[in-house]
Amino acid sequence: MPAPCQPPRGTGLAALGRVPDSDRRTVIEPFKVKVVEPLPRLSRAERERVLDEAGWNLFAVPARRVTFDFLTDSGTTAMSAAQWASMMIADESYAGSRSFEALELSIRRITGFQHVIPTHQGRAAERLLFSLLVKPGTIVPSNNHFDTTRANIEQLGGEAVDLVVAEARDTRSRAPFKGNLDVERLDELCRRERARIPLGMITITNNTGGGQPVSLDNLREVAAVYRRHGIPFVIDACRHAENAWFIKRRQPDQADRPVHEIVRDVFALADGCLMSGKKDGMANIGGFIALRSPAWVPHLRSLLILTEGFPTYGGMAARDMEALAIGLDEALDEGYLAYREAVARYVADGFERIGLPTVQPAGAHAVYLDAGALLPEIPPEHFPGQALACALYLAEGIRSCEVGSVMFGKTVDGQFRPAAKELVRLAFPRRVYTQAHMDHVIEGAAEVVAERARLRGMRIVEEPPFLRHFTARFVPR
Ligand code: F0G
Repeated sequence: MPAPCQPPRGTGLAALGRVPDSDRRTVIEPFKVKVVEPLPRLSRAERERVLDEAGWNLFAVPARRVTFDFLTDSGTTAMSAAQWASMMIADESYAGSRSFEALELSIRRITGFQHVIPTHQGRAAERLLFSLLVKPGTIVPSNNHFDTTRANIEQLGGEAVDLVVAEARDTRSRAPFKGNLDVERLDELCRRERARIPLGMITITNNTGGGQPVSLDNLREVAAVYRRHGIPFVIDACRHAENAWFIKRRQPDQADRPVHEIVRDVFALADGCLMSGKKDGMANIGGFIALRSPAWVPHLRSLLILTEGFPTYGGMAARDMEALAIGLDEALDEGYLAYREAVARYVADGFERIGLPTVQPAGAHAVYLDAGALLPEIPPEHFPGQALACALYLAEGIRSCEVGSVMFGKTVDGQFRPAAKELVRLAFPRRVYTQAHMDHVIEGAAEVVAERARLRGMRIVEEPPFLRHFTARFVPR
């Protein structure tokens, strides 16, 4: 007999759903709606006023002034009934909470890593791990570091080196695994700089590089290089479920394997992972470090207590740990993952149809627009991505995020150095918007494309020293 008040534990891996056999062309939302919230709708004049007040930075626009919020897929998931139910019966004990046990069990089962350090979100996990390993002059390779990952390494005096494969730079190439890490360059770097590399990473899926997946073959090769050089291998696993889904869909020898087995194979290659639970944890907050060996654990736990909280909650409330424990399983449901892939593909195909170039092939968590290709007359130093993001907001209340020279451009010795690409990301909250919403978004974007000759670039009038895209203020040129 289960003890009274046992929390529901989600579906569990054994009961994971399969993609239903269906001849239908339409992939449906695999849920029905139980709770709704109103969709803010503004006039164009209202949106113009809002954007002007926000310094033409969409991060500064109040959410109640946004109709379609595609700023991020992070922490914006609509949680399931099972997650909400578990939150009611969470154990908020300071030490030894039952909810931590549930989370630890879930992470151990999915990743195979035994040592779990909970944090309030992904970047806290980054800061903890890097403050142990990264010193001035050290180097941390990856395919592409996400911006907080890079900033946390650089803030400690380290160098974050991106070694993504060459085809990632071609936004039109339809190569299936454009998130792969260039193994030859990695090996060469490791041979040359072994003593300066305290850990090696890879980001799955490769968010900064367009949400592109990494193949299981590439992960195996990368792991072998790190192992050969005796470098600990840590995966940034934010979107590991989506990555495993793409391995299943795009790597023919993996097509018949359940996603959770592929996930186990991926983690088996590494020494540990960092994860933001706000992505494939299907939670609104949370994160963790999970490690195979206990070697770093005492030091990490001391730091954790100093800045995050006791080792059985990190920075999370127990109810958040419950939601994450269940969400990690829900993200591996293959019916859900098929829908997740279909959303991005539907929107990307819609954009292509109206003449808005997208990074191909579409990933799962987002669609990336190629603002450089759409607006070739706006030079990188006038931020074509920012111009496009603002135009989408004015047209339809769409909030997106520039991933170009605002985020990655730099001025060194008075010389402007642009980002490699001028992209705009529309990231999709999980289980939040419907197909009709997406049709409306595509209609709004068509209006922007039709009027693209009228778009002007932007000028920065105020910016902070780090991560300027969050708080910079702009004026249109
Ligand atoms: N790593 C990757 C690949 C990420 O995408 C993010 C966050 C983080 C680490 C940091 O996690 O936000 O929980 O501290 N990405 C969000 C995004 C913010 O919008 O892509 P966090």
